[in-house]
Amino acid sequence: MGKGRLQDQVVWISGGASGMGQASAELFASEGASVAIADIQDDRAQDVVSSIEEAGGNAKFHKCDVSCEEDVKKSILATAKDFGGLQILVNCAGIVHVGPLHEYEEQDWDLLMGVNLKSIYFSLKHGIRYLRKHDRSYIVNIGSVGSFIGQAQTPAYTTSKHAVLGLSRSIALDYAKDGLRCNCICPGITDTPMLRYHLSQSGDADTALSDRLRRVPTGAALLPEDIARSVLYLCCEDSAGITGTSLVVDGGYTTAAEWETIGNTRFMEDK
Ligand SMILES: NC(=O)c1ccc[n+]([C@@H]2O[C@H](COP(=O)([O-])OP(=O)(O)OC[C@H]3O[C@@H](n4cnc5c(N)ncnc54)[C@H](O)[C@@H]3O)[C@@H](O)[C@H]2O)c1
Repeated sequence: MGKGRLQDQVVWISGGASGMGQASAELFASEGASVAIADIQDDRAQDVVSSIEEAGGNAKFHKCDVSCEEDVKKSILATAKDFGGLQILVNCAGIVHVGPLHEYEEQDWDLLMGVNLKSIYFSLKHGIRYLRKHDRSYIVNIGSVGSFIGQAQTPAYTTSKHAVLGLSRSIALDYAKDGLRCNCICPGITDTPMLRYHLSQSGDADTALSDRLRRVPTGAALLPEDIARSVLYLCCEDSAGITGTSLVVDGGYTTAAEWETIGNTRFMEDK
């Protein structure tokens, strides 16, 4: 593998076994980074590691429940030990819970907040001592269009994603003096297993997708690779000077006052 923009960099990616995290892991490895994938899905993560290695890259999988501090701590320590340091944290792991708030069990709420939000605190808490060893380091947290607007039937998710944006700003302020830049990417409708699960909760997934895409000016779902390119941008000096901000990657979803776009219902493999 030739020299890339992330040569000699080490990145820890939560949720790297699937969707945007997987696409980010593969893109970062192709740019020369050593990649640690922290996820709960063994088989998928091992496949991602194998595909990166077959392409000549460097990757390791750590089984890690990001809502558990001890798991995150172990995974980050192992990353720094295996690869000789750590410069980049990408917090991509996430879950969604669909339903009205009065039907939530307390553990549904706590699990979602643990995976989507508290995990970012754990990764910074245990990663900061490695990030501080470098003149430049980067954190990207994955928010959502739900960081700005409400989404039906997902109160805990929407709350968590608003908080991810707030936490990203707070981290950016407090660690700027250490050369750390922290930003939040806010994706719109992106074709991943999570999206498919979410859509399937409302019956017919194709109809649900078509309905949603009516209000997306580009009329198409984003691909995980679209988000990965934005993550890369915020984890290198192409984005020098940008910190504490949100990068909305949503095909115009949150820009539109009207929504009569003819939906493009195609999923990724049909294109
Ligand atoms: N797909 C969309 O339309 C969309 C839109 C906006 C934001 N997002 C956000 O993007 C991020 C990535 O989601 P995706 O769409 O790629 O979904 P995905 O389901 O493909 O990937 C999520 C990954 O997180 C992992 N994960 C879940 N719980 C975990 C835990 N406890 N510990 C470790 N890993 C865990 C999963 O195993 C999976 O590999 C999430 O934060 C999600 O909220 C997705």
